[in-house]
Amino acid sequence: MDSAVYHAGHRFNLDYGYAMKDEPYFKHHVFFCINERDDGRACCADRGAKAAQEHAKRRLKTLDLNGPGKIRVNKAGCLDRCEEGPVLVVYPEGTWYTYVDEQDIDEIVDVHLVGGKIVERLKI
Ligand code: FES
Repeated sequence: MDSAVYHAGHRFNLDYGYAMKDEPYFKHHVFFCINERDDGRACCADRGAKAAQEHAKRRLKTLDLNGPGKIRVNKAGCLDRCEEGPVLVVYPEGTWYTYVDEQDIDEIVDVHLVGGKIVERLKI
């Protein structure tokens, strides 16, 4: 028996006791910490996080991979891994990365977001 309901053109799975949409709104959601501090403590903003986030957005747009059903890149406040920063996290996997430059961001895009494989050398 099909335990699904349909609404607004989407199929919702009821197997979990509540309506769960089969497909996530975004295939991947990427959060870049861009937190900035002025008290001398480590923060991602001091390590190039804003430029890296903007680079990721530009690259995904160039590849036509941004938007609903695809990939969303967002700014985030402190993600509480400051000493390991700059950091970003990819959902739904919950994979955390650090990075140094645009080449690292490109590798995360190409290998993880497009290729579906973890970039082990950047994983934290
Ligand atoms: S400042 Fe980036 S994780 Fe805390």
